[in-house]
Amino acid sequence: MTRFRDPHNILVTGGAGFIGSNFVRYVLNNNPDVHITVLDALTYAGNINNLNGLPEGRYTFVHGNICDADLLDTLIPNHDTVINFAAESHNDNSIAQPDIFITSNIVGTFTLLQAVARHHIRFHQVSTDEVYGDTDYHDRSKFTQFSPYHPSSPYSASKASADMLVQAWIRTYGVAATISNSSNNYGPYQHVEKFIPRQITNLLSGRRAKLYGEGKEIRDWIAVEDNCSAIWQIVLHGTIGKTYLVSADCEKSNRDVLHSILRLMGRAEDDYDAVSNRPGVDRRYALNSDEIRKEFGWKPEFSNFEAGLQDTIDWYAQHEEWWQSSKQATEQKYAKEHH
Ligand code: NAD
Ligand code: DAU
Repeated sequence: MTRFRDPHNILVTGGAGFIGSNFVRYVLNNNPDVHITVLDALTYAGNINNLNGLPEGRYTFVHGNICDADLLDTLIPNHDTVINFAAESHNDNSIAQPDIFITSNIVGTFTLLQAVARHHIRFHQVSTDEVYGDTDYHDRSKFTQFSPYHPSSPYSASKASADMLVQAWIRTYGVAATISNSSNNYGPYQHVEKFIPRQITNLLSGRRAKLYGEGKEIRDWIAVEDNCSAIWQIVLHGTIGKTYLVSADCEKSNRDVLHSILRLMGRAEDDYDAVSNRPGVDRRYALNSDEIRKEFGWKPEFSNFEAGLQDTIDWYAQHEEWWQSSKQATEQKYAKEHH
């Protein structure tokens, strides 16, 4: 195993988004000797308030874009590790307007790779199970790190492209990089456009829950803190050049997840609207995460999905000021797309 020096001064791109901000909080709370610089463009999905309450003096915020090569050249040499969370992350948006996904997800990753190659800095790419495409609803097989890439949406194609650039920069330029592909995350600070927070905030704001199609699609859910702990273990102990799959083995149909939310929020199971499905929708995602479990002994800590959902409902109920301002704009956009 190639071992890089332990990270102490980390550049986290996209650290004002959902997973990035949870990761910054996780690392700073568990590692008193680590300093983090967050680089974030603060798109509609980024919120600087996601970083409120972090230990003083332990992080610096830089407002900027991962496509800005000059900015990267000034920032990156002062760090020992770069972890890239920055991306456009929502499938529905990628179908309506793919251009920005090509720019931020592909050109952005390319620009970061060029910079870490110039400055010989350790790099970790945060990616998704969606690069492997889907399986049939009733299939029991799971994707492994050796499965072929077969992305379906503009978003997943852009993430697959970015992963392939990382693989090429490892092999051709010797960049010391790893990749993690995780399943669907849920938890605090997730934008209200995404499935679970959208339903919770619909019910909290007097709207009706919205299920795409018949809700047969299967997603493999993981608490965001478990993805953060996995990424941190990979950054600390990962073998350079390797891809690690991160999953908590929690496959659920969208309909079952919605039923749980409705039940936990005191509603009848049929108290929702069925709306039009996503064009080209992926049927089932499922990942085999044996490798990271065997290699580092990583395992998810939050394996009770219903308890995790209840905590997430409580968080959104207690943080209405956090989501209220983006809720109306999100719902107006969905209304135009018939979702
Ligand atoms: P998010 O949309 O909540 O946050 C993305 C962040 O990146 C935002 O703060 C945004 O301002 C920033 N950003 C976007 N473009 C940028 C640019 N060009 N330069 C600098 N900053 C930019 O996304 P998320 O759900 O937290 O996802 C983070 C990463 O994890 C993404 O790469 C995503 O593909 C991947 N991922 C997400 C999930 C999931 O379930 N949410 C699962 C697997 C992988
Ligand atoms: O699998 C990992 C991926 O998970 C990440 O790479 C993406 O960044 C992240 O957004 C997520 O993608 P999905 O498309 O799986 O998540 P989303 O929350 O958009 O939708 C989950 C499922 O729920 C999907 O089948 C569509 C459906 N859905 C979504 C919304 C917003 C509904 O039924 N109703 C809704 O209102």
